[in-house]
Amino acid sequence: MPPYTYERSAQLFQQAQQVLAGGVSSQFRRYGYPHPLFYTRAEGPWIWDLDGNRYLDFTLSQGPLILGHSHPEVLRQVEHFTRQGQLYAGGHLEEVELARQVVQLVPCAQRVRFSLSGSEAVHAALRLARAWSGRTRVAKFEGHYHGWLDNVAWSISGQQGELGPVEAPQAVPWSQGVPDHLAQDLLILPWNRPEVVFPLLDRHASQLAAVICEPVMCNNGCIPPEPGFLEQLRRWCTKHQVVLIFDEVITGFRVHLGGAQALLGVTPDLAVFGKALANGFPISVLAGKTELMELLAQGTVIHAGTMNSGVPSVAAALATLKVLREQQVPDRLHRLGQELMELLREVSHRAGHPMLVQGPGAVFHAGFTPLEKVRDLRECLRYDVKKYARFVAGMHDRGVRLIGRGIWYLSAAHEPQHIQQAAQIAYDVLKQL
Ligand SMILES: Cc1ncc(COP(=O)(O)O)c(C=O)c1O
Repeated sequence: MPPYTYERSAQLFQQAQQVLAGGVSSQFRRYGYPHPLFYTRAEGPWIWDLDGNRYLDFTLSQGPLILGHSHPEVLRQVEHFTRQGQLYAGGHLEEVELARQVVQLVPCAQRVRFSLSGSEAVHAALRLARAWSGRTRVAKFEGHYHGWLDNVAWSISGQQGELGPVEAPQAVPWSQGVPDHLAQDLLILPWNRPEVVFPLLDRHASQLAAVICEPVMCNNGCIPPEPGFLEQLRRWCTKHQVVLIFDEVITGFRVHLGGAQALLGVTPDLAVFGKALANGFPISVLAGKTELMELLAQGTVIHAGTMNSGVPSVAAALATLKVLREQQVPDRLHRLGQELMELLREVSHRAGHPMLVQGPGAVFHAGFTPLEKVRDLRECLRYDVKKYARFVAGMHDRGVRLIGRGIWYLSAAHEPQHIQQAAQIAYDVLKQL
């Protein structure tokens, strides 16, 4: 148990920076506490770092580990199928079986295509929507994250001053090197503000190929759609022949086996899945209505990838889906998540540092804000991120690993006692903030 020290990770971080740009392989890993750490193994809800510290893990590698780390059934199936072959530059039985299962589970999925990452699948979805509609512009919401590629690396976060007026949000690039001219291909919208969204959409309808959103804005504040908002978007897109795309990379197979679209009862034209499908193995899915997916079938819209539907990932996905179904994992995660959310509200009030905790349950967000409810990115910017960083540091030093941005992920390996333990530690940390 604590006190935790991080010397070996610190040393390796120094060495890593000589060969690995910034010592990490993804931007999000730069924000580790107290610096990027290195890990040696992980099992169930636990993960161990290079210094031998053990953590109760609520990051779950940013979501994928829905069954917990090193799930035996997933590993068994991966080994079994991978020993027969790894990649065929051609089809295989398991790939078709996985497609069949996704089509059965996901309301919008009449046909699917597999890729490796969520970013790639989003890219394919946008290309498809542009080809089908013959239009170029895409409406995207502030604060929604759809991967790191140039098309969509806009208005993901931002400072209050640079977002522009809420009635006419600015496209804010996420990174240097993203070509400025791509801003013209976007229409930026504020989440959950129908009074602004629909007039803007009306004004630009004839240019729009697609409207893309996270059906629950998980990447900033885990904000569900206001009642009726998604339904209204659905009706608007149908009326104007604009493709509605749900990015379910976080919500997919987590909030419901059929994704947020099944939970919320709104069916998009296309949807994108990733993370939780294969419990840590790389696979993503573009799923959609036949009418659209037909363009891929005909080969008029091109989607490709040497590593697509590789045997280890497909085997992992089949094993994950089997456990998710048999053990009704999403239902269980929902209950457990709701319980943890309630406990965090309670202990944070008791400790004198009340947290706003919101989200579906299997994934949720916690943070310090003067607001009683957070509805969009602009309100998210009022979260006290420095205070939350101190909370995350305190939790980490006591063996609970959290994502700095406030998202919590639950896995099937988390038991009620882990939830109690996390809440108790949260209380101790908050009291000392
Ligand atoms: C909603 C959403 N879409 C797309 C992506 C991109 O997925 P990937 O990191 O697999 O490229 C992410 C990643 O966090 C995400 O949260």
